[in-house]
Amino acid sequence: MLPLSFVILDKFKKQYRVVPSHDNSDNLKRFNVLLGHVPIGYLSYHFESSQVLYIDDFHIRHDAILFPSLWWDMIVVKIYLPSLKWQKHNFQGRGIGTAMLEFVAEHARSISVKRIEGQLKPHDLNANPNLPDWYRRRGFTVEGNKISLAL
Ligand SMILES: CC(C)(COP(=O)(O)OP(=O)(O)OC[C@H]1O[C@@H](n2cnc3c(N)ncnc32)[C@H](O)[C@@H]1OP(=O)(O)O)[C@@H](O)C(=O)NCCC(=O)NCCS
Repeated sequence: MLPLSFVILDKFKKQYRVVPSHDNSDNLKRFNVLLGHVPIGYLSYHFESSQVLYIDDFHIRHDAILFPSLWWDMIVVKIYLPSLKWQKHNFQGRGIGTAMLEFVAEHARSISVKRIEGQLKPHDLNANPNLPDWYRRRGFTVEGNKISLAL
């Protein structure tokens, strides 16, 4: 049984909560990354076997909208700044993805999983041709579009 939430840090030592999704099933599981209560990323996965954790999807948002955290703030913003557009925040490139991979590797080790696997999707590769190198720098082997990390 997983604890309700964990904490990871980005490279500026800012804290994010990692929370297992409540609709996790035996077939598909997901960790959500939250700043306060705002979802800023997720990693979904399943177990290919008791030894292999397979990453299905992994995303850190570049367009998260941070609403004021308190109702009071929201009312003040609404009354005094009606034309204010909610600002989009880019959470990529802050080390959160790296921290998530380390977190998932640690979680996998703790339940005796021996390998993490996944597949690079064409649209992610088109958007970021450096993705294979990003994984290699984090210890993964990349062959074609397949990634794997021995634990
Ligand atoms: C791939 C992804 C998960 C990485 O997460 P992240 O939090 O951005 O990763 P990190 O901050 O830990 O590392 C970002 C890398 O890009 C560099 N970077 C610098 N500025 C950046 C920016 N503005 N945006 C993105 N990356 C930047 C960092 O220096 C780092 O490079 P490094 O390997 O030399 O350290 C994330 O970018 C993402 O969700 N991309 C879109 C979906 C995707 O491709 N998912 C992968 C599916 S397999």
